Amino acid sequence: MIEMNGPEKPVIIDTDPGVDDALALILALRSPELHVKAITTVNGNTSLRQSTENALRILEIVALPDPPPVIPGAAIPLNREPIPSASIHGRDGLGEITFLKDRRGKKKYTPPRHKPEPTYAPGAIIELVNEHPGEITIITLGPLTNIALALQTDPGLSRHVKEIITMGGAYSVPGNVTPAAEFNFYCDPEAAQEVIGSGIPLTLVGLDVTRSARLSRHALMNATKKRTRLNQFLRDSTEFVMDFYREREGYHGCCVHDALAVMAAIDGSIIGTKRAHVEIETEGKLTAGMSVADLRPYARGKTGAPNATIALYVDSTRFEQQLLERITDA
Ligand code: BDR
Ligand code: CA
Repeated sequence: MIEMNGPEKPVIIDTDPGVDDALALILALRSPELHVKAITTVNGNTSLRQSTENALRILEIVALPDPPPVIPGAAIPLNREPIPSASIHGRDGLGEITFLKDRRGKKKYTPPRHKPEPTYAPGAIIELVNEHPGEITIITLGPLTNIALALQTDPGLSRHVKEIITMGGAYSVPGNVTPAAEFNFYCDPEAAQEVIGSGIPLTLVGLDVTRSARLSRHALMNATKKRTRLNQFLRDSTEFVMDFYREREGYHGCCVHDALAVMAAIDGSIIGTKRAHVEIETEGKLTAGMSVADLRPYARGKTGAPNATIALYVDSTRFEQQLLERITDA
């Protein structure tokens, strides 16, 4: 039984699916607390074209009667080359499901039938936020290029966004793509800095907590016994990344970073937070994309006032339970 955590929140989800993005989108679309008004896509885990196709595929699998529009955005970072797609998500960004064949040798997953909107994500974000001033929460699950472009185009936008909840950064722990930087901020550090400096109320859900936002293979298998298209998709899309974790860490499961950002939007009590001043390194040779949080005691005044709320604790057991309850067909 899904319990509601407060009234429905209108959200835009900006994403680069990505296996954990896929689970995060399924969670958002199946959670009554959120009203997903648009899904905007960005280059990151995979190319913009593939991210967009993946978002459409996820919508088809969730099969809502009135699905939100999928709107493509930035194909490259603000002023850097795109980095090669993250090997952890497979060649198609969705754990290589598009290469799977059924017993008769036919593709198990054919291209989605739905098409993206013919509009551009930064413009669509501006329009939606200005139509609903002070109401929209933006949840970002990929590089922040689309949001930075929207802010550059309409500098007044920052006054009208209710809140941004971002999966990105590593504040008291090492990075994942480099020793210093987390993937989403590393892809487009300038965009991340622009968003963090925008004055929009920000909750940063980084590796400090998302490394503990785990989904075990055993729990997933148990929760997806019923034969449905969604359950099959969950099993198929996570297999590749779970193999990756088993080989790298001996863990039978995977981290689902982005799903924790969505869960925090649904139920803020899943994370414990601290206010801090944060800046993103845009110049360092070894530290590009590093999220530098002033977590020193009495830091205020040395680097500037706190400009973000950082997640530092997570109830991982409750996270996994709630995630499975919501994303699987029981
Ligand atoms: C982030 O990087 C991506 O690979 C994931 O989808 C997540 O958004 C974690 O560092
Ligand atoms: Ca992502």
